[in-house]
Amino acid sequence: MTFSKLKSEILALVSHERLSIDERLLNICELLEANIEHYNWVGFYFKNGDKNELKLGPYVGEPTDHTIIPFGKGICGQVAVSNENFVVPDVAAQDNYIACSITVKAEIVVPIFVNGENIGQIDIDSNTSNPFTEADERFLEFVCEEVAKLLS
Ligand code: SME
Repeated sequence: MTFSKLKSEILALVSHERLSIDERLLNICELLEANIEHYNWVGFYFKNGDKNELKLGPYVGEPTDHTIIPFGKGICGQVAVSNENFVVPDVAAQDNYIACSITVKAEIVVPIFVNGENIGQIDIDSNTSNPFTEADERFLEFVCEEVAKLLS
């Protein structure tokens, strides 16, 4: 499915008002994992209350032990403090990386902003090397903006 078609599917999913926010976020994870070949683990992390740590939210893919990630640790924890997208073409080349599965070769994390505050992120792992392009970044920014509207 093209990013353009996926964008309309995202808009439909976020507007399912009978579903809880978490159900809608899970549906987004399922949509992305099922339709984009290089997305093999798709999940959301959110700031855990007033703690400087991330807590795992809805996700699709192998269960992970990393349900809590301190700010600054791993790719996710770095995005929590940098407020910027982090595209990792080769996870083996990263020093500050938390491995969830040996099959993962690349990762992309895009932050979610509500009223200018970085409140969480979408995290995607890929079993393919160097799979992410600027098109992924723009698409995931769109997804994060729609999720931000749900959470604001
Ligand atoms: N690899 C991430 C940890 C989360 S898992 O990918 C699900 C990181 O380095 O922050």
